[in-house]
Amino acid sequence: RKKMTIPDMLLMKQEGRKVTVLTAYDYPTARLVDAGGVDAILVGDSAGVVFSGHENTLPVTMDEMLYHVKAVVRAKPKALVIADMPFMACQSGEIEALKNCGRMLQEGGAEAVKIEGGSNMARIIRAITEMDIPVMGHVGLTPQSVHRMGGYKVQGRKDQAERILEDAHAVQEAGAFAVVLEGVPAKLAARITEMLDIPTIGIGAGPACDGQVLVIHDILGLCEKYSPKFVKRYADLAPLITEAARQYVSEVKDGTFPTEEHSFS
Ligand code: KIV
Ligand code: NA
Repeated sequence: RKKMTIPDMLLMKQEGRKVTVLTAYDYPTARLVDAGGVDAILVGDSAGVVFSGHENTLPVTMDEMLYHVKAVVRAKPKALVIADMPFMACQSGEIEALKNCGRMLQEGGAEAVKIEGGSNMARIIRAITEMDIPVMGHVGLTPQSVHRMGGYKVQGRKDQAERILEDAHAVQEAGAFAVVLEGVPAKLAARITEMLDIPTIGIGAGPACDGQVLVIHDILGLCEKYSPKFVKRYADLAPLITEAARQYVSEVKDGTFPTEEHSFS
């Protein structure tokens, strides 16, 4: 398999080949999902929730994201590595945004960044893409906007639809190479996908998108707490892990482990 590049991803839309993206936050997971053949690995700020245990993604810092990005990059994946920009890394002006996005490539070794926001972030996205830092947009349900939205709710229903469409268009015009459409009605996602030249990567956005992205913990069944409607579980690892731990505890307690086989003479 050849190393995935930004131009390859644009070509995939033109040729009608679906783009597959999964998140990863560490070295072993990055190796495993890359072996599964994903086109891109998103080091998402969802790490704040599924890895660090926060309520939402707002507490995630640049330093935490860099730590995850570096671990993923060490897996040398064929997949494109995209670093998610945490809350407030790009919001307080172009200079700050450029510095932080630059760090993801220079220190982290990522190949692209992802920034939440539409028309409101277009000026900043333009500044970053003009400095040759590839940007993936993210519109619709943007989890960093949880307080404005009043929770994680589908965006772009009824009279909100045109605003989401404008956001997606603004992100493309600002130079983004792709855009995540999260939590929007399937019909709206289809309209946006048809309108844009850049690939749309959907999550809870229906089947018409040019690609799909999911959180790795969700598809592996590692987070037992909740499972949103848009997630499909491809494995159920949580009970396997608990059972392995339970067996280990039981065998140490009753003296079944370790035996001679696991000991040095
Ligand atoms: O942080 C994340 O994992 C994301 C994807 C779900 C799009 O932003
Ligand atoms: Na994110």
